[in-house]
Amino acid sequence: MHFLKDDDLTPEAQLAVLDLAAEMKADRFAHRPLAGPRTVAVLFDKPSTRTRISFAVGVAELGGQPLVIDAAGSQMGRGEPIEDTARVLSRQVAAIVWRTHGQERVEAMAAASRVPVVNALTDEYHPCQILADLQTIRERTGRLAGLTLAYVGDGANNMAHSYLLGGAVAGLHVRVAAPEGYLPDPAIVAAAERAAAGTGGSVQVTTSAEKAAEGADVLATDTWVSMGQDPAEKDARVAALMPYQVNADLLARAAGTAFVLHCLPAYRGLEITAEVIDGPRSAAWDQAENRLHAQKALLAHLLGAAG
Ligand code: CP
Ligand code: NVA
Repeated sequence: MHFLKDDDLTPEAQLAVLDLAAEMKADRFAHRPLAGPRTVAVLFDKPSTRTRISFAVGVAELGGQPLVIDAAGSQMGRGEPIEDTARVLSRQVAAIVWRTHGQERVEAMAAASRVPVVNALTDEYHPCQILADLQTIRERTGRLAGLTLAYVGDGANNMAHSYLLGGAVAGLHVRVAAPEGYLPDPAIVAAAERAAAGTGGSVQVTTSAEKAAEGADVLATDTWVSMGQDPAEKDARVAALMPYQVNADLLARAAGTAFVLHCLPAYRGLEITAEVIDGPRSAAWDQAENRLHAQKALLAHLLGAAG
């Protein structure tokens, strides 16, 4: 079983992972399902701080051994096929975690792998982050289904897509606000609508940040220039997205109890103001910590080893 996008977990499985993540957070060193140690390969085609650290620490805490590889330094960086890499790795490791470019690359790895493959971020999805974010929301509110999450900013990036899909699986009412040209992939919106139909959630895409934020329980955003995007586009992106900044005025439209999610790294003064991300309603640091707990639970779930 692989975890390549958010709806690879059924609503029941997603909840089981979140329950286990809470248990693992409460008793951090009690679960050692990777004792042996079993090895987990963690591969990076793009930079990372949180994902790199949380998988390395998490695998070690589960009793396993993390093998963190920058793909550029491996034969993959010289063009060895993904399928051959999958065959070689999956004879030796218990799971493969990979941050890369197109979604088709993790799909190719999974198709040729005998062991679970985990998407540690692609251009299209960031499903591990959404598990950590759902854990964070649950900790603060005690529930998920029925809450409204408004994501404001670049609606066409991995975080927007994973909030749509993973949020729908969790039964959230997900609103995405972005300008024309930055709207989510319609195929992913449709997949999220299908998931929401089964969980009582809903999906709404709008060009109005104010409308999306109105009464929301959770307000989320992400960088306006994602890894792999052309830095030369930055000025045009900033101009188009500035009306979608998460600032005190936008937050004032959300519920009085609302808090703010940002997966980090944050660019203060662009997608979010310093006042908000460094303020009392920011949940960013809990999110970053919960990457550890959520991913430990995910690995235990995928390896059928919750112990
Ligand atoms: N949020 C996140 O995935 O951070 P990194 O890019 O530092 O891993
Ligand atoms: N959308 C961002 C997320 C970083 C964790 C990116 O892909 O760069």
